[in-house]
Amino acid sequence: MGVASSIMGSALASCSGPQNVLDPAGPPNRSINHLFWTMLVVAAIIWVAVVGAALWAALSRRRRTREDLEPIVDAPNEEQRRHVGIVTSLVGATVVTLLFFLVYDFTVGRALAERPSRSLTIELIGHQWWWEVRYIDPDPSKLLVDANELHIPAGEPVQVKLKSRDVIHSFWVPNIIGKRDLIPGYTSSLFLHADKPGVYRAQCAEFCGLEHAKMALPVIVHSRADFAAWLAEARSPAAEPNDSSAKEGKKVFLAGACSSCHALTGVEAYGTIGPDLTHIASRKTIAAGTLPNTRGNLGGWIVDPQSIKPGARMPSNQLAAKDLRNLIDYLETLK
Ligand code: CUA
Repeated sequence: MGVASSIMGSALASCSGPQNVLDPAGPPNRSINHLFWTMLVVAAIIWVAVVGAALWAALSRRRRTREDLEPIVDAPNEEQRRHVGIVTSLVGATVVTLLFFLVYDFTVGRALAERPSRSLTIELIGHQWWWEVRYIDPDPSKLLVDANELHIPAGEPVQVKLKSRDVIHSFWVPNIIGKRDLIPGYTSSLFLHADKPGVYRAQCAEFCGLEHAKMALPVIVHSRADFAAWLAEARSPAAEPNDSSAKEGKKVFLAGACSSCHALTGVEAYGTIGPDLTHIASRKTIAAGTLPNTRGNLGGWIVDPQSIKPGARMPSNQLAAKDLRNLIDYLETLK
C-alpha cells in the first residue's frame, strides 16, 4: 500500500511544475493535452484487450479440430461464419478509431494554427547561447530591447516572431505551447496564450553548440495590469547611481570591456554582442537561466564566465578587486 501510494504520488507530482508539458497553462497546450490523454486511454484499452485475447488464445485448452483448419471452399460452416464476423467487426472498429483520431488531431491542429486579429508582438532572437527579446510597438520610439526573460500578459494571445543570429535554435515553453525553430535568415512565428499569471521555464530545444543545455528562458506571465506596469518600468532608462562605489562602478563599466558588448539605455553603452543590461538587477537569473542572480554569482560570472559556461562569447575579465566590487555595486542598482 505504501509503495503503491508513493508511486501514485510521484506519478502525480511529475504531472506538474514550471517546465512540464503535462501541466498546461493555456488553451493551446490544454487542447494538445486532451488529445494526448484521450489517445493514451484509448490505446491502453486496446492494448489490454489485444494482450488479453492473445493470452486467452495461448492458454486456452481448446484443441483445434480438423474443421478449424479446413479452407472455406463452398459455403462457410457455422464456426467459420462466426470467425469472419469477429474479424470484420474488429477491422471496422479499427477504422472507426483511426478516423476518429484523424478528425480529432486535425481539429486540434486547426485550432492551434488560428491567428488572432490583433495581438502584442514580441521578437525573440536566438544567440549562442542567450535570448534577445524585443517588445515591438507601433511607435518605434517605444521599442524595448531586453534579454533572457520573456514577459507576457495572461489571458490574451501574444505573437512571438522567432529569428536567429547564428545557428538554428528552438523555442519551447512546454506548459504553454509546442516547439518552434529559430532559423537564421528566416522569421517563423507562434502565438503564446497563457491563462493565468505564473513563472514557467522555456528551454532551447535544438542542439546549437557547446552550451545548448545552458540556454534557458524564464517566461513570466503577468496579469494585464502588472504587465502594463512592467512594460512601462522596463522602458525606463538605466538608473543613475547615487552612492560613490556605484558611481565608480559605472566608470568601470564604460571604460572597461563591458560597454563594447553590452548596451545600457540612456547611457553611452551600445554593445550588441551580449545581452542588454539596462535592468539586469531585476532579472531572476544570469547567463540565460544558468545561475540565480546573486552578488556572488554575478562576480564569478564577470571574472570567469568560461568556467561556468565554457565556450560562451564572454571573455574572462581580470579586474582589480576594488573595481569588481564597484562594478557589481553599479550593476545591482540597475533595477
Ligand atoms: Cu540554442 Cu540549443
